[in-house]
Amino acid sequence: MIQRRTDRELDQLRRAGRVVAAVRRAVLAATTPGRSTRDLDAVAEQVIREHGATPAFKGYRGYPATICASVNEQVVHGIPDDIPLAEGDVVSIDVGAQLGGYFGDAAFTVALGAVPTAAGNLIEVTEECLRRAIALARPGNRLSDISHAVETCAVAGGMSVVRQFGGHGIGRSLHEEPHINNYGPPGKGPLLQPGFVLAIEPILCLGNPELLIADDGWTASTADGSLAAHAEHTVAVTADGPWVLTADDDLGEGADR
Ligand code: MF3
Ligand code: CO
Repeated sequence: MIQRRTDRELDQLRRAGRVVAAVRRAVLAATTPGRSTRDLDAVAEQVIREHGATPAFKGYRGYPATICASVNEQVVHGIPDDIPLAEGDVVSIDVGAQLGGYFGDAAFTVALGAVPTAAGNLIEVTEECLRRAIALARPGNRLSDISHAVETCAVAGGMSVVRQFGGHGIGRSLHEEPHINNYGPPGKGPLLQPGFVLAIEPILCLGNPELLIADDGWTASTADGSLAAHAEHTVAVTADGPWVLTADDDLGEGADR
């Protein structure tokens, strides 16, 4: 069953989402050549705790860190390590926080310094897929309209969609119903209703979308070594349209209500 959250609960989820937005800002600022993803993990955990929140991923099915940091051909669920980031790296950061029993989950991908045009395009197309999918998170649309929008945008941009992972409902748990594919025909699945809260997360790569999971049991990489990118927001479906709960206050995209 897909939960419908009350307005009060959406306010709680927005609070959790604001913590995630603050973490995203801090981690983005710290993502520079020479820093390790373990440094970024420490930054993220500190910001989360300063807000009285707790990391959502740490301990989830045994996951050992606050963020997932997936570099270059790593796609999702990269475990932070001590390798210094370098100019030209494409870094995806995924972070979740829990505040007062409610969860927020968001991800972004950033290139360090100058990267080939294809890498820059990959990041931009991934963000565009997320924007288009978010725009469809409104009552009257069906779940797979979101899936279809991601795939259509990715294909139009010359990118591949990863199929093994997708978005999900979120609320009082990190992962709730429904699963959200990033591909498929439109007009299928449940009608979106006010109060649904969805973590929408396009995951794209430049080459073949087949993945390999590392021996650590988590890190997913493209089998062909091609670059991957990931973008995610937690979004509430409201009568007035999508409410991006993990948006920065100052971007207007999450305009509070
Ligand atoms: N945003 C990712 C997801 O929804 C992050 C999960 S990492 C985990 O699947 F460690 F929590 F599994
Ligand atoms: Co997620």
